[in-house]
Amino acid sequence: MDEPDPIPGAAELFALDPAVAHLNHGSFGAVPNEVRRAQADYRAEQEADPDGFFLALPERVARARMAVAGLLGADPQGLALLSNVTEAVAVVLDSIPFGPGDEILVTDHGYGVVNRAAERRVAECGAAVRTVTVPLEAADPAEVVLAAVGPRTKVAILDRVTSPTAREFATAPLLRALAARGVITVVDAAHAPGMLDPELEVGRPDFWFGNLHKWAFAPRPTAVLAVAPQWRPRIRPLTYSWEHEGGFPGNVEWRGTADYTGWLAAPTGLELLRRLGPERVREHNERLAAHGQRLLVERTGLAALPASPGLAMRAVRLPAGVAELEEQVQPLMRAVRDRLGTRVAVRPWAGGGVLRISAQIYNRPVEYQRLADGLGELLRSWTSSTV
Ligand SMILES: Cc1ncc(COP(=O)(O)O)c(C=O)c1O
Repeated sequence: MDEPDPIPGAAELFALDPAVAHLNHGSFGAVPNEVRRAQADYRAEQEADPDGFFLALPERVARARMAVAGLLGADPQGLALLSNVTEAVAVVLDSIPFGPGDEILVTDHGYGVVNRAAERRVAECGAAVRTVTVPLEAADPAEVVLAAVGPRTKVAILDRVTSPTAREFATAPLLRALAARGVITVVDAAHAPGMLDPELEVGRPDFWFGNLHKWAFAPRPTAVLAVAPQWRPRIRPLTYSWEHEGGFPGNVEWRGTADYTGWLAAPTGLELLRRLGPERVREHNERLAAHGQRLLVERTGLAALPASPGLAMRAVRLPAGVAELEEQVQPLMRAVRDRLGTRVAVRPWAGGGVLRISAQIYNRPVEYQRLADGLGELLRSWTSSTV
């Protein structure tokens, strides 16, 4: 795949430091200037008349939720706004009754905090977490996941797009196959809104949650939780608020006096994506990520991890001894930042860590070129200085 044509004026939509190549949109996103201005306007309104602002807030949050649901193609009755995926997974796990012997299936590509939330939940009720090891080179992760399902598997938590390895795990056929075996399906779609589309209907999981602050241009922190109809009355919010009696979605959205301005500005981010053309953005980002991965492989000799079509992230395998342990990760990411002026994500993996690049409309091929040109030498000196 060739490098894509740039989207004119895209970099100027953001406030990113031009001295640094930000090839890690996947971790925290980047909030476009017009979305930041929209949130600043809401904050100004809040400070001009706090009483009036908070009294009108439930109605405005409901309107923001409807707008987000419309832009995501979701059923507004089944969608709640939340802070982030960390919060969403806690709500979901708390809402599912577990008994002794029940098993939650997760994978070793799952996000650390999500897998730990499952561990914490089962510890309370005599259930267990089974972590499925999916080899990095596995051509079909679905096969590996399905083979691990047993009679005690009550819930499977799967990523739409895996964070460390940038692959699509929760595909429609896999979710349907799990549901056919009576497994409750939970989809960690942290990266999906704005990156993949159409999205919410994929495999019709029981629970689906995704961040809007990664690829949907919303302020941080903004997320959504979609719940299948049969589960909505059983949702157990983390906090008890004034909206409790009304049930889902208001009961999970309200946490007393808090900053809700990010939610109000979230539709501005999704509108910007619509104006830019979601297809055009997706095609640009996928092609640029693929181009970046190809450059890395060609210039450094590192192995590409298998890629899933349509994603704006790609990964390569680091040499043995590099970033195998959690404590080796931050120093390496810092060195890539300091020596190559580039932000990337690195996750530890036995046998050699994984380096992930992202592509967003503000990125340029030359930024991946710079990384690819310098990374080999950095890793050589890194390996010799750390062994
Ligand atoms: C797959 C996945 N799940 C969950 C999270 C957690 O998101 P948050 O920190 O916004 O709760 C992330 C964040 O990078 C992620 O990539």
